[in-house]
Amino acid sequence: MSERLFVKRLTDFSCEYQGPFVTKIHVFDDILSTNAAVHELARKGAGEGTVVIAQTQRKGRGRFDRVWQSPKGGVYLSLLLRPKAPPEKASLLGFVAALAVTYTIRSFNLPARIKWPNDVLVHVKKIAGILLESETDHTHVSYVIVGIGVNLNTDLALLPKDVRMNATSLHKEHGAPIEYEEFLTTFFHQFDRFYQLFIAGCFDQIIDLWKQDNDTLGKNVRVQTTNGVLQGTAVDVDESGFLLLKTHEGKVVRVTSGDCTVIDAS
Ligand code: BTN
Repeated sequence: MSERLFVKRLTDFSCEYQGPFVTKIHVFDDILSTNAAVHELARKGAGEGTVVIAQTQRKGRGRFDRVWQSPKGGVYLSLLLRPKAPPEKASLLGFVAALAVTYTIRSFNLPARIKWPNDVLVHVKKIAGILLESETDHTHVSYVIVGIGVNLNTDLALLPKDVRMNATSLHKEHGAPIEYEEFLTTFFHQFDRFYQLFIAGCFDQIIDLWKQDNDTLGKNVRVQTTNGVLQGTAVDVDESGFLLLKTHEGKVVRVTSGDCTVIDAS
């Protein structure tokens, strides 16, 4: 593993989790990006269940090539998956991750909800983001990296103003710091649960669970896509988790990716 990626390895970290999903955890106190590190491991043949966790990231990656600011106090982790599933279902792994994060946050008595596709919010503010990166061809998924950033005990003042305005943390919502290792252990158990459904091909069940916890469907939304802005009512998601948006002209458009903003309840 190159020095460039892994700056310093943590020695005093322990995670209780010994479940079926995680096969190997690499823990670092500082790294460029946990997703980049898992890509490197995957290309070298690392197996499903390989996890990289860091306490800080210097070049954390967000969706649409944005920077994911990663100060101390947050959770930054990436999971390597090699599911034997059709490529068109790979995007549902974002739902799997969002459900796992949502249930984990709820275990701390906080009302987590999901905004399409997989932002996790508490009181309408973003508390966690998920970045999926994959190597697939038309017929086969080589691997999927699920990168998760959670504002756990993050000092929100360290985030840029535009991010801070729409962000919250577990610490802030809970009123006290959250134990890092307890959060991780709970998260891995939750991820196991939902990933088992995915492996078993229970895609409809994953979508149903996502629908129960989402805060997007039925709302009037604006979606910034790479091809421009779409506006309308979020009517449903399809079997890949893509958003079905009914425009004001009455046309239903399938949106595969984008930044969704809820304008109001419609
Ligand atoms: C988003 O834009 O909402 C997704 C953010 C994902 C950030 C996480 S932090 C751990 C992992 N490593 C990265 O470089 N990015 C993801």
